[in-house]
Amino acid sequence: MSQEPRERWSGRTGFVLAAIGSAVGLGNMWRFSYLTAEYGGAAFVLLYIAFTILIGIPILLAELAIGRGAARSPISALDHFGGGAWKAGGIWFVASGFLILSYYSVIAGWTLRYTLNALIGGFEPDTGAHFDAVSQGTGAVVGHLVFMGATSLIVSRGIKAGIERTSLVLMPLLFALVCGLAIYAYTLEGGREGYAFYLETDFSKILDAQVFSTAAGQAFFSLSLGMGAMMTYASYVSPQQHLPNESLVIGGADFVIAFVAGLVVFPLIFALGLSADVSESTLGALFITLPKAFAMMGLAGQAVGFLFFAALVIGALTSAISLLEVVVASAIDTLGWSRLRSTLVFGGAIALLGIPPALNINILDWMDKLAGQLFLVAGGLLLAIFVGWVMKDPFSEVRKGAEHVAWFPLWRFLLRYPIPLVLAVVLYFSVRKLFFD
Ligand code: PHE
Repeated sequence: MSQEPRERWSGRTGFVLAAIGSAVGLGNMWRFSYLTAEYGGAAFVLLYIAFTILIGIPILLAELAIGRGAARSPISALDHFGGGAWKAGGIWFVASGFLILSYYSVIAGWTLRYTLNALIGGFEPDTGAHFDAVSQGTGAVVGHLVFMGATSLIVSRGIKAGIERTSLVLMPLLFALVCGLAIYAYTLEGGREGYAFYLETDFSKILDAQVFSTAAGQAFFSLSLGMGAMMTYASYVSPQQHLPNESLVIGGADFVIAFVAGLVVFPLIFALGLSADVSESTLGALFITLPKAFAMMGLAGQAVGFLFFAALVIGALTSAISLLEVVVASAIDTLGWSRLRSTLVFGGAIALLGIPPALNINILDWMDKLAGQLFLVAGGLLLAIFVGWVMKDPFSEVRKGAEHVAWFPLWRFLLRYPIPLVLAVVLYFSVRKLFFD
């Protein structure tokens, strides 16, 4: 076992900002807007909201309860409350962390590159060709390695001096940037249609199995659920904290940022007459269509583009540190390694695993689908069953610092019946789509 005593957040703000930092990231800005465009706008948004409230928040509270209750990283925490066989679940979480961070960091590398582009020369008009050139190959590998280096540096410094301090500085900045950009987008002429596309629901799409399972996966991805990230952060939380309230604050903030990011992206695209690009949305949309808009806007576009991509970098960094922390905390708790050694070894391993997706965007696309639709959803199913059926008295854990909360019975009920059922259905469609189509 490790000799270092377990750290704690310095207080409520530190934890909440770090958890929001984990939740708010590329998922809110890049993934949310490209999926919304690909799956037909508002219908997708509506489903995503429903999944966030009915499944996301209950699972978030489940993760917080396990993490704080055990005060250990996922592998040991599941063992603590469920017995040795559940360690396998924790290992699944750590594997998800590996998988997600390795390609997440590649995309973060692109955002770094675009931020620098905006700063130095502005956006090239042929943004498609530019994206093809920078998204795969040596440049992408370099961006990925730089980003992994920064992530590892922060994690190696620990909870208070590394993760908490970074979140305290960067999260308020990110909020300000995204809100400022949304206000700017509102002033653009011709942005109206963007709002319409984004907010007017075509209900027929809601019943589509593909839209349904993608929206569920996105709720997990965006809230950092189903792989022990929130659980790990909660393991540094003090018993006085009101977990049910924190879950609402974290979930609410994550949704607001995703939603406001949509209020930036869609009006911008429509105001510059690029709506045709939206219907052909792919995972490169944000990196092709938006820079096209920025390039058309001259100097103002360069400034706005810089702020936009800087916000993406910030979001990505505060999320990536939580992904790495899952792996590092697990190494500390289960292998008894020091934080520095765990960070170097596993940060390095993840950097290596990120090289294939940095060289080939199809591999990246596949990894993202695998993570969002399979790993996280399966992890969520496992968590619902664990807290719904296996953990002896989850109430006593959430009640610490919280007394009576009106929705406790509903919480347990959701975790026991509706959530496993819905997630099993989602998983069935995802597996069929991923492996048999
Ligand atoms: N929630 C992060 C985002 O939206 C991604 C993430 C997923 C982080 C899973 C941690 C765990 O970008």
